[in-house]
Amino acid sequence: MSTEQNLAQIGVVGLAVMGSNLARNFAHKGHTVAVYNRSTSKTDKLISDHGEEGNFIPSATIEEFVASLERPRRAIIMVQAGKATDAVIEQLADAMEPGDIIIDGGNALYTDTIRREKEISARGLHFVGAGISGGEEGALHGPAIMPGGPAESYEALGPLLESIAAKVDGTPCVTHIGPDGAGHFVKMVHNGIEYADMQVIGEAYHLLRYAAGMEPSEIADVFREWNSGDLDSYLVEITAEVLSQVDSETQRPLIDVIVDSAGQKGTGRWTVKAALDLGIATTGIGEAVFARALSGAQRQRAATCQALPSGAVETFDDLGIDKADFVEDVRRALYASKLVAYSQGFDEIKAGSEEHNWNVDPRDLAMIWRGGCIIRAQFLNRISEAYDHNPEVESLLLDPYFHQEMENLVDSWRRVVVAATRLGLPVPVFSSSLSYYDSLRAERLPAALIQGQRDFFGAHTYQRVDKPGRFHTLWSADRSEIEV
Ligand code: 6PG
Repeated sequence: MSTEQNLAQIGVVGLAVMGSNLARNFAHKGHTVAVYNRSTSKTDKLISDHGEEGNFIPSATIEEFVASLERPRRAIIMVQAGKATDAVIEQLADAMEPGDIIIDGGNALYTDTIRREKEISARGLHFVGAGISGGEEGALHGPAIMPGGPAESYEALGPLLESIAAKVDGTPCVTHIGPDGAGHFVKMVHNGIEYADMQVIGEAYHLLRYAAGMEPSEIADVFREWNSGDLDSYLVEITAEVLSQVDSETQRPLIDVIVDSAGQKGTGRWTVKAALDLGIATTGIGEAVFARALSGAQRQRAATCQALPSGAVETFDDLGIDKADFVEDVRRALYASKLVAYSQGFDEIKAGSEEHNWNVDPRDLAMIWRGGCIIRAQFLNRISEAYDHNPEVESLLLDPYFHQEMENLVDSWRRVVVAATRLGLPVPVFSSSLSYYDSLRAERLPAALIQGQRDFFGAHTYQRVDKPGRFHTLWSADRSEIEV
């Protein structure tokens, strides 16, 4: 039991790897940390393995845990999203007092966070849904943190979070994102971008391997080199590590013994569902989510993989492309598709923020995503500059820097999509992102025909390019047009 002299500045509930690493991170920064887990074995293990790293106050009950926190009490929940989170919130809220702060640091669905914030604030407590990115290592050494909830609670919470967050050029990768679900919403989109980023890296690897016939170790070197330029990022860096790993059992590249069926816990899917509701074309993220789903459709793939006709696919030699030129084209296609994914993600955040009146500043995200999180990348500096330049820019792709980049990338991008098509290799995000890009550029889209069809079968009406109003053609009568 704690004494008044020894109260904790922060508490962590849920001591699986993420929770215990976060607790240790707080302790390393000199804070006294209250820790609680439903089964005491995890608490005991944290204390026995890491107790001497800092000042921890372990508790066996939630009441004891709450009593060990200084006021306003600040407790971060690191348990599974969904029912488990609701149960812990309920227990904490029962034991806490007005003004105390409950922080949900898991990957919660933002609509759950909005609901919880409403319920908890009605009880006089503060509820902060905070996206935390960086995986296990990030939690321990410095994550990127995206807290939502009332601005007022950030005053009590901000300095603590800033002390444990990753730092880039001395700036902590955390800031108050906006009210209620804003933090979890942007973390969700962060994960959607993560899905697209991982998929485009995967597509680049696939082309180098199965078009250009390169070995994983050789491709690892290519990624290492790419990591020193525009593509400098955590995901490109770890890709080189994964590709150079050799399986100790078979001596084959590890990549070749891993089943090619990608898992997903749901945040990418949520990003796409929310985008659909908001009417935002996050095609890159969507294709990345579908690519994971298709990779997991094992039975269907087993039935189709030898059975479907390929048509006259060609070989890499048929393409008559120099290998080094192809590698550079793939790098550019990867960069262009990645820009599209980030641009779409930021579009979704803007739309979500407008829908919920969150007032999210995209510059904040570009700043805090530069370090700690899974999508940390050099070029987030460029995104930050783009929003500094024009916070209202209609698409990131219009920013003068990215506009210039696209000019350098687009020909390579087209060549890569054409090459993949001729070789019969799937590049769902490379190709759909290029179509998205060409749709943005198009003066006319086939949507005019869709409007004509909708009017034909359902009298849904259309607008005309030459005058205001809504019109309908009397398709089954004399086909004259009426204004409706
Ligand atoms: C992070 C990660 C983290 C986790 C996700 C994605 O930002 O630290 O995004 O939240 O890796 O759960 O996992 P899935 O790929 O399983 O959906």
